[in-house]
Amino acid sequence: MTATATAQTSKVDIWTDEVLLNPHDTYTALREQAPVVYLEASDVWALTRYAEIRDALGDWESFSSTKVAFNPQMNEVLTGTTLASDPPLHTQLRATLSENLTPRALRGLKVTIDEKADRLVADVVDRGSFDGVRDLAQELPLQIVLDLIGVQGEVREKILPWGNAAFNLLGPMNERAQQSFPLAGELFEWTHGMQGDKLAEGSIGRAIFDAGARGDIPQELCGHIIHQYLAAGMDTTIGSIANTIRLFGENPEEFAKVQADPSLIPSAFNEVLRMEAAMHAQGRGTTRDVEIGGTVIPEGAQVAVLFYAGNRDPRHYDEPDTFRVERNPLDHLTFGYGVHGCAGQGLAKLEAHAVIEAFCRRVDSFEVGEPTVKLNNTSRGLETLPVFDVVAA
Ligand code: HEM
Repeated sequence: MTATATAQTSKVDIWTDEVLLNPHDTYTALREQAPVVYLEASDVWALTRYAEIRDALGDWESFSSTKVAFNPQMNEVLTGTTLASDPPLHTQLRATLSENLTPRALRGLKVTIDEKADRLVADVVDRGSFDGVRDLAQELPLQIVLDLIGVQGEVREKILPWGNAAFNLLGPMNERAQQSFPLAGELFEWTHGMQGDKLAEGSIGRAIFDAGARGDIPQELCGHIIHQYLAAGMDTTIGSIANTIRLFGENPEEFAKVQADPSLIPSAFNEVLRMEAAMHAQGRGTTRDVEIGGTVIPEGAQVAVLFYAGNRDPRHYDEPDTFRVERNPLDHLTFGYGVHGCAGQGLAKLEAHAVIEAFCRRVDSFEVGEPTVKLNNTSRGLETLPVFDVVAA
C-alpha cells in the first residue's frame, strides 16, 4: 500500500532505537506536520493528535482491532482474542475477561495490595539507595499478578521476560520482534497448558478455570484470559510506577504537594500516565476509506495510534510537557479509549496508588539519577532508575 495523493508523508521509522529511546522530538514533529502522517518506512498511517486518536479509538467500525499488531503473523496468531477482535465477538470475550477486574471484584484485593506496597517501600527506604525499577516498580505488579493467577515459585523469573517478549511481538517484524518468538511461545504454552486444579484456591485464576469446568465459559478461553492478564498487566504497570518515582524525583516541588496532600494521589498518577504513556503505539486497520483533515486513509491500511504524541498535544493540554500533579487529566489516552479501553486499569491504579501513598508517607526527600530506557517495540518503560540520598520521613 502507498500513500494517497493528499497524504502528508514522513521517512521516519518510529521503531528505531533512537526514536524509542527519545520519542519526544520525533512525535512532536509528526504531530505538528499533520493529524495523520503516512510513515513510508513501515507502511503505516500514524495518528498524531489527541482528538483524532480519541475519535479513532472510539470508532471500532472504521478502525478494526484485527490489525492491533504491526505485523501480519501476530495478527493471525491473535485472531479471536479479546485484544484483536471487534464487536460482537469482542463484547462476549471482554465480559468474561473483565468479570474479575471490576471495582467490586477488586475491593477484596485493596488491603493486600496496600500492605505489600508498604512493606516494599519500607524496605527500600531503609536501604537509603536503591534501583527504582528492580527493587520497587517491578516487585508489586509481579507479586500481585502471581497471586491473582494463583501460582508462585517456578515461573516467577520468567514472567517479566515473557511479558516483554509479548509486547515486542506487537510491533513490526524487526529484529526485536523476531528474537522474542521463543519467549513469547513459552508464555503461550504455559498459559494454554495450565491446569486449573493446580492453581491456589481462592485465586482469580482458579475461579476462571472453575467457570470453564462448569461450562459457564468455553474451556479454551481460560488459558487465553490468563495470557491477557499477564501480557497486558506487567510492563505497563511497572513502567508507570517507575516513571512516577522518576517524575517525583525530577520535580521535587510537585512531590512535596502530594506529600502535603495525599488526596492528590489519583490526580498525580493520571498526570504521570499522561506524561509517559506506557505504550508507544497500538495498531488498528481501516475497514473503509477514512478521511481525516483532508487526507484519505485507504481501506485495509495499517494505522498506528501514537498515545504519547496525543497526550502531549498542546491543542488539548495546556503546557503539555510540564508535569503538574494537580492537573488531573482524567481523559488521557494511556489506557486507550472505547470498547478496548484497558480492562485492568482499576488494578493498575490500586497498585500505583498504594506505592505512591506509602512512598509519600515514608520518604521525606530523595534524588534520582539518569534512568536507562527499556527498548521495546510497544511498551515504554525504564530498565534502571538510580534512587539515592533517601531521607526517611
Ligand atoms: C498502567 C498500567 C496499564 C496501562 C497503561 C494499560 C494500557 C492499556 C491500553 C492502552 C489498552 C488498550 C489496547 C487497545 O486499545 O488496543 C489496554 C487493554 C487491556 N489491558 Fe491494560 N494497561 C495497564 C494495566 C493493565 C493491567 C494491570 C491489566 C490486567 C491484569 C490489564 C489488562 C488489559 C486487558 C485484558 C486489555 C485488553 C482489553 C480489550 O481488548 O478489550 N492492563 N491496556
